[in-house]
Amino acid sequence: MLKLKKVKRVKGELRVPSDKSISHRAVILSSLAEGESYVREWLSSEDTEATLQIVLSLGVEAKREGRNLRISGKDFLFREPTHILDARNSGTTARLMMGVLATQGFFSVLTGDESLRQRPMLRVVEPLRQMGAFLDGRELANKLPICIRGGHLKGISFLNKKASAQVKSSLLLAGLRAEGFTEVMEPVLSRDHTERMLKAFGVELFQMETESGHMVKLRGGQRLEATEIYCPADPSSASFFAALAVLKEGSELYLKDLMVNPTRDGFFRKLKEMGAKVSYENLRELSGEPVADVHVVYGGRLRAVNVESHEVPSLIDELPILAVVMAMSEGTSKVRGAQELRVKESDRIKTVVENLRAMGVKVEEYEDGYQIEGVESLKGAFIKTYGDHRIAMAFSIAGLLAEGETVIDNPKCVAVSYPQFYRHLEEITK
Ligand code: S3P
Repeated sequence: MLKLKKVKRVKGELRVPSDKSISHRAVILSSLAEGESYVREWLSSEDTEATLQIVLSLGVEAKREGRNLRISGKDFLFREPTHILDARNSGTTARLMMGVLATQGFFSVLTGDESLRQRPMLRVVEPLRQMGAFLDGRELANKLPICIRGGHLKGISFLNKKASAQVKSSLLLAGLRAEGFTEVMEPVLSRDHTERMLKAFGVELFQMETESGHMVKLRGGQRLEATEIYCPADPSSASFFAALAVLKEGSELYLKDLMVNPTRDGFFRKLKEMGAKVSYENLRELSGEPVADVHVVYGGRLRAVNVESHEVPSLIDELPILAVVMAMSEGTSKVRGAQELRVKESDRIKTVVENLRAMGVKVEEYEDGYQIEGVESLKGAFIKTYGDHRIAMAFSIAGLLAEGETVIDNPKCVAVSYPQFYRHLEEITK
């Protein structure tokens, strides 16, 4: 348990830990490549360590050099694991690794922690079966543990209705060893780190905007050439501090080396729409990703805003902290088309609504979102995180803004993506 009290303001400069999505992919693609890759500024957190442990169990060798990793890839010649592979709390690990394991003729079993074992997996199991892999598991293979025996895949054309980057990435990875072309279409472009990084590893991709959305396609049989990948700072981790700065009078913050890929920076764009002072400085490109130093200054009370379904993919992981910002803004805000929140590390619609209400905010819950009436000030409360790192961090920020004391029931869960979160918070609020 952690007790929090109101802070005066935030000031300073911060380089938050590296992006989680990119760090997972850097380990996975380096493992698939031929030769030695070098991953700079890799995020070490519970989720990404789960990915690293799994590739080590498949025969990959990795050496740590400070925050960097040297990885000897296997060019898809993995060895059969002798034990169950544990993705712990990480949906990205489970779903991307299923795509990799589907390319292998051997037997493997994937599991996860209590939360991950409740999350839906058919979204990847079904298309991987269509490609020719054998998968089975609990609840007709919708839930972990799931066993996989793959090999001899053929390319498919798949419509990714939920615009899930985990599903798209899983199929593209499997497609690298499939016969013919593998094609994924999505109504809205989901985070495209896999596509950008595959290009950095020398893979040829075809991408096209169509009337019905976005298409990506690759030819099977291509090899990945080892390379060097830089992991920029995580905009999802930075969003908590940016929220504190735009809500607390007298604040000013520089968030250094932040990845500002348009499929990920929806939260920062929303803040600007609400009237916040946010600017991107020193914009550059590193390992195929746009990176900037983001300057955030307090500029008065923010205005309510709506989030519509086509905007959801670019700020899906930031919706809990955006809900806190909405709760402290002038007017009524609404989020719709975000039913995916129900199957994240917790049911984030339920956990956001419950905790905001505990802090004295009027919230209406919908199946696919919520409506929030802004208040002048939040009331300190007992926060139930349900072991969800982003709920813990979002409501810690709320606690630092509230009147009275806030208690976080399980602050340790932040280690899933951001082990240094509370230390960094102390540094910028002292
Ligand atoms: C991720 C994709 C998103 C996101 C998750 C990370 C990724 O999930 O919410 O935190 O790294 O591909 P979905 O693919 O389920 O939308």
